[in-house]
Amino acid sequence: MRKIALLTSGGDAPGMNACIRAIVLTGLHYDLQVIGYRHGYNGLLDQEYLNLRSKNVHNIIQRGGTILHSARCKDFYSDESAKLAAKNLNALGVEALLIIGGDGSFKGAQHLAKHWQGQVIGLPGTIDNDIYGCDATIGYYTAIETALESIDKVRDTADAFERVFLVEVMGRHAGFIGLNAAIASASDQVMLPELSQKCDDELENIIAHIEAGKIRRGSTSYIVVITENLWPNGVTDLAKVLTDKTGVECRPVILGHVQRGGSPVSQDRVLATKLGAYAVECALEGKRDIMVGEQNQQLLCLPIADSWQKRKELDPYLVKIQQQLFDILQRP
Ligand code: F6P
Repeated sequence: MRKIALLTSGGDAPGMNACIRAIVLTGLHYDLQVIGYRHGYNGLLDQEYLNLRSKNVHNIIQRGGTILHSARCKDFYSDESAKLAAKNLNALGVEALLIIGGDGSFKGAQHLAKHWQGQVIGLPGTIDNDIYGCDATIGYYTAIETALESIDKVRDTADAFERVFLVEVMGRHAGFIGLNAAIASASDQVMLPELSQKCDDELENIIAHIEAGKIRRGSTSYIVVITENLWPNGVTDLAKVLTDKTGVECRPVILGHVQRGGSPVSQDRVLATKLGAYAVECALEGKRDIMVGEQNQQLLCLPIADSWQKRKELDPYLVKIQQQLFDILQRP
């Protein structure tokens, strides 16, 4: 093997640069040429790339975002696009393509594999952690830290005014960030897609819990962590409904894209470095159409189709204890 390529695709995640660095330096260690496509799959279609050398990855491990830039490329799902990408890769003599991204990017990778003879290897990089077959995705730990730091700050002002705050976190349709941020911040309530009931029931639950809290603790602050895309009309609407029904002032806080930025925490840097190096070694071993991941400190590969077709579950023990801690407040 002489040449590999890589790209970052979909929502960027802190640690992507650490992963790019590990791929480039491991590639150079094995005397491979490494090229980086810019702007995700768009770069593959437009043949927009750069040769990556050690100087390109110097001093980037601590930086959020991605030096290669990222994009979501809807066009990539057509056969014409995949064929064009295959032609471009062949023209450059690329033998393996490493894709750092999430489920949408891996769907694209699988589509490309139908039209390209080279090796396709995915590396899980998304703050959502919604990728099957790995304990954590690159960027997930940093996103939890960012959410936690923000919730701690919200709590200060919530306490001062004895208000209810609804803090919306990212995760798309997965509750990993929400559950962990709620546990770590000792939030009073959490709403996650995996646990969600009918909206009316959910509303009744929260109201009953706030009322019980008032009786038990007196007038205090109350924090609800809620995953995005869960409440039909959004968290601002939910805050209004709660204010009207409880008479307690509720405020919405949408954390949004701040969760995608910032310097990666050490766990994301180490995970990114391990997965980057391992992906290059898998490429050298001739592996194809796989995703690399880590489970219980063991590096592994699985079919790339599994990574997005199978559903990753929340930690059931964490769910159980969150529920127990929540129930205590409602005891007479
Ligand atoms: O997948 C990462 C993510 O940040 C999700 O948590 C969020 O729903 C989505 O991307 C936002 O995407 P965009 O930046 O395209 O609005």
